[in-house]
Amino acid sequence: MLTLRAQSLQNRSVNYDLRQFLQLGMVRFVVSSCRAVLLPRFGGPEVMELRHDVEVPQLQSNEVLVRARAVSINPLDTRMRSGYGRSIFEPLLPIILGRDVSGEVAAIGSSVHSLSIGQEVFGALHPTAVRGTYTDYAVLPEEEVTVKPSSITHVEASAIPFAALTAWRALRSTARIYEGQRLLVVGGGGAVGFAAIQLAVAAGCHVTTTCGSQSVNRILEADAEQAVDYIAEDIELAIKGKFDAVLDTIGVPETERIGINFLKRGGHYMTLQGEAASLTDRYGLAVGLPIATAILLKKQTQYRYSHGIEYWWTYMRADPDGLAEIRRLIEAGKLKIPVEKCFPITQVREAHEAKDKKKILGKVVLEFD
Ligand SMILES: NC(=O)c1ccc[n+]([C@@H]2O[C@H](COP(=O)([O-])OP(=O)(O)OC[C@H]3O[C@@H](n4cnc5c(N)ncnc54)[C@H](OP(=O)(O)O)[C@@H]3O)[C@@H](O)[C@H]2O)c1
Repeated sequence: MLTLRAQSLQNRSVNYDLRQFLQLGMVRFVVSSCRAVLLPRFGGPEVMELRHDVEVPQLQSNEVLVRARAVSINPLDTRMRSGYGRSIFEPLLPIILGRDVSGEVAAIGSSVHSLSIGQEVFGALHPTAVRGTYTDYAVLPEEEVTVKPSSITHVEASAIPFAALTAWRALRSTARIYEGQRLLVVGGGGAVGFAAIQLAVAAGCHVTTTCGSQSVNRILEADAEQAVDYIAEDIELAIKGKFDAVLDTIGVPETERIGINFLKRGGHYMTLQGEAASLTDRYGLAVGLPIATAILLKKQTQYRYSHGIEYWWTYMRADPDGLAEIRRLIEAGKLKIPVEKCFPITQVREAHEAKDKKKILGKVVLEFD
């Protein structure tokens, strides 16, 4: 195989085979700048700027350049836009929002072997990535992207990975659920909750959930055993028995109390509303992180002593095995997240405003022409 040194192309000395060299060279020639939604400061939807001259960074050896076709809006995007995570992101402004992406591989780094140019892929960046996916050309590490199932569109694919990987992390890495166990999902109507229900059903678990009335049928069709309307019903009376794990997507004191009381001894309570970011935003990294760690340890110790359960703040993490399993479940027709509305990327402000004002409750996707 012919190998070339790409000193001038990549501004560093790297060996490429001829095919990669040509592919990278062609892409660098065509794509040196692109459109992206920049966040120059924190605030409302109006602070986001769609710019046409944003640099496409040089790929590291483990990275994949994805020509975005669709990106979904996660609650993290609107929260980050408003200043959540400012202790990390403020010194790095302007940043690009967005975690999920579905599109085509436009270029690959020299050590990427699982993907090739032109393949349709989907994936999600980890929560602290500075250059997000609201851009024509997103850059993701190889482990955060995989082949898109051909059975779903880019719009459908973009709705899934960040939410499903969050659910995967909680259920498979933290609680380590297995066949026959009982899982309670508090807030199963949202993207993470609905993904958790489907992952747990696929693992052979018995799933109960709380949700809004509009989500009940969808959740029962996904084979949850019980879906309790949290407005119309008394959750504590409606749900019977104890659970091996509780995933609390709401994470307020009331849902925490209820969730913990439903656990068997040795069970796992996992909230998506860990306080690490809010505390570091409030007190700075140096003080906030130790405070967050102390609060978490105190709660873990208290609940172990009072209820005999394990208490966790759970966060999305990149997980290639999880992403591969998510892809398999989508292909098998066992995992999907409904998309309620699409906006063109040019209307990103309108899309964020609709989420902020809760005009659209379900998943919103931004499409690229
Ligand atoms: N820690 C992490 O790494 C991480 C990762 C992803 C998400 N999150 C957080 O997790 C939360 C959910 O994320 P998401 O992407 O699933 O958001 P989402 O798709 O917007 O879902 C939110 C859902 O919560 C449900 N809900 C609201 N109040 C409820 C209550 N009192 N009881 C039961 N259900 C209630 C609603 O479902 P109905 O339509 O059924 O009413 C709503 O659709 C967000 O706060 C997000 O910031 C954290």
